[in-house]
Amino acid sequence: MGKKVEEMSEKEREALLKQILQDLKQILSENRYLHSVSTMKKAKELAKIYQQNEQIVMLTAVAHDIAKEMTKEEFFAYAEKNKIPLEEFDTQEKVALHGKIGADIVAKKYGFSKEMQDAIYYHTTARANMTMLDKIIFLADKTEERREGEDAEKLRTILQEEGLDEAILWDIDYYTIPRMIAKERLLHVNSIQARNAILAKKKKIEEAKEKN
Ligand SMILES: [Fe+2]
Ligand SMILES: [Fe+2]
Repeated sequence: MGKKVEEMSEKEREALLKQILQDLKQILSENRYLHSVSTMKKAKELAKIYQQNEQIVMLTAVAHDIAKEMTKEEFFAYAEKNKIPLEEFDTQEKVALHGKIGADIVAKKYGFSKEMQDAIYYHTTARANMTMLDKIIFLADKTEERREGEDAEKLRTILQEEGLDEAILWDIDYYTIPRMIAKERLLHVNSIQARNAILAKKKKIEEAKEKN
């Protein structure tokens, strides 16, 4: 592994982005590659709106699904070799694994920081007290222009009109949870904790308003 992203100049980060795009073209199917590029574009848009470092956001966004097309066997082999602790959940639901494994790959291969790793790690489940980067990656993934359908449309509207937290809350409550229940799939505790944390924060803000 070379330099850490935090220590890179703007030019070096630009070169890294190009490198990652090239790598992803090899690793991913065309569809997933295009999704990754679209997620990067959407994330860049959000980085502007929410005044975040655009390069950091774009690098994280483009690489978020780097491990998505690994097989179950490859996930477990990678986890064992790289000593990544797995939970009971991971053996039954593959979905969060690509975030976990992806977060490890980007640190070792591209020098991504802990903050960038976390945003990839939690992009499928969300988590309590998400960072701005976590939120942008989570939502860019779900609202990028290639996502079609009523749910994606609705999420885009909420994101635009009500902001990041409301969009994440809506996604968990009205998209993720109902869909998982309908399919009799497991819910990750991180998703529940994410919604609880957003609700608690909302309540605090409302209480503070009432006092004034
Ligand atoms: Fe993903
Ligand atoms: Fe994705």
